[in-house]
Amino acid sequence: MAYPDFQTNIEDPAVYRHAVERFRQAGIVLPTFSQLAEPATIPGQIREALKGVNPDAPDPRNLFRVHWHNRAGHPDAFTESPEYMALPSALTGVDAQILVALGDRFPMIRAHKVLAAYACLAPRLVTGRFDPTRHFAVWPSTGNYCRGGVAISRIMGCRGVAVLPQGMSRERFQWLEQWVESPDDIVRTPGSESNVREIYEKCAELERLDTHVILNQFAEFGNYLGHYSCTGPALERIFQAERAGSPSLKLRAFVSATGSAGTLAAGDYLKERCGSRIVAAEALECPTLLRNGYGEHNIQGIGDKHVPLIHNVMNTDFVAAISDRSTDALGVLFSSPEGHDYLRRRGVPGPALDGLCSLGLSSICNILAAIKTAKYLGLGADDAILTVATDGAGMYGSERERTLSTRFPKGLGGTVAGEIFGQHMLGVDTADLLELSHEDRTRIFNLGYFTWVEQQHLPLEEFEARRSPAFWTGLRGLLPAWDRHIEEFNRCVATG
Ligand SMILES: Cc1ncc(COP(=O)(O)O)c(C=O)c1O
Repeated sequence: MAYPDFQTNIEDPAVYRHAVERFRQAGIVLPTFSQLAEPATIPGQIREALKGVNPDAPDPRNLFRVHWHNRAGHPDAFTESPEYMALPSALTGVDAQILVALGDRFPMIRAHKVLAAYACLAPRLVTGRFDPTRHFAVWPSTGNYCRGGVAISRIMGCRGVAVLPQGMSRERFQWLEQWVESPDDIVRTPGSESNVREIYEKCAELERLDTHVILNQFAEFGNYLGHYSCTGPALERIFQAERAGSPSLKLRAFVSATGSAGTLAAGDYLKERCGSRIVAAEALECPTLLRNGYGEHNIQGIGDKHVPLIHNVMNTDFVAAISDRSTDALGVLFSSPEGHDYLRRRGVPGPALDGLCSLGLSSICNILAAIKTAKYLGLGADDAILTVATDGAGMYGSERERTLSTRFPKGLGGTVAGEIFGQHMLGVDTADLLELSHEDRTRIFNLGYFTWVEQQHLPLEEFEARRSPAFWTGLRGLLPAWDRHIEEFNRCVATG
């Protein structure tokens, strides 16, 4: 295994020509990373052509919606700063401002993982490393990345294969069934959320076929760079929008539950720009970063029992573990009429109640980790924490049914809603949160050795290089190079 996404030369001119030809036939234009980072720079002609295109349709023009600036219910307009929720203290129980960027504004999969998928495939395509006429793009995932990958492959005229554990939510499989070219393009591996080794084993098998290209989000630096360059500035704009109304507001932390750790890259950007700290959240039932631990959990999309190669561990400041008992229970509370009645009586305003449908299980985990951080740091009304809602509640109806029938069989009437809120929201404490010392970071970094060097055979020096901050700042030089390739590719497609 090497770092293929580090290369910026055209690897195979014939493969490149096939891609250009395929794109010309389908009339596909690719957005640059800088356009996705700042959608206001997308040419008017392209924005005009987007009008009338359904954001959920498999239409290549939706590539220009793979960013944070889409407006819910108004697909024709981009927003100046991304839509977000500023959570009221009646909901969080803390004075600190918790600002949540909404991933369900992304097209096709209604989750921001479609950005990660684009950031992994596009650099390969425009450098002659992926032949859409011959290759299958394989998307290993426990969460939304494989849905994003299947959507991106399809609208980029490529064949996509999702590899995911059979225990993931029914809604994910239903979505995939509608988007894949053939039922064989959904590969179910044993287990559930934290069974990543089984996914890797399946990918190793598929990789032996010279037609299958594995786009491993845990090791693809495109994933890191997509979030560094697009999610980072988008979140900073949210903070600036909030600060416009409260000039003394300071950004204290960015929280992200880690699956591939791609989203955490936005924390690197925000730390450089605003001095905020970086909190990696995970499931208490699988405390890999906190305790080198393992286990099953239901916070779908995170906590995969290993340290991703693209996690900048030495720049991470806190680890916070949240129980899936809390995320499951609050998921039910936030989606039920009894829950809303209760929260309304507690003073949670209507718009915040309406926004709860944008919170999937890992989004709730992020919010709980933000509350934990606010309590630990003693933050007040002038302090902000940014986080993301990767996906909305829509993907988890079947999970809520299961939680209701097993834990709350009589529904949320009587005192049940209040008990859930008191225990899982107001009851958030500072246990299972670790402020990382150099020693702690070193321990977590070293844990990655077993996955990447021992199992995946990455050369030791490539693994070790990531210990240094210079490695991560050096990576960013790839972005302008990739953008130049994207522009050149678009030119070839247009001119022949
Ligand atoms: C629902 C959900 N939440 C959180 C994550 C974690 O994001 P990341 O992989 O960027 O760490 C994922 C990743 O697939 C996800 O699907």
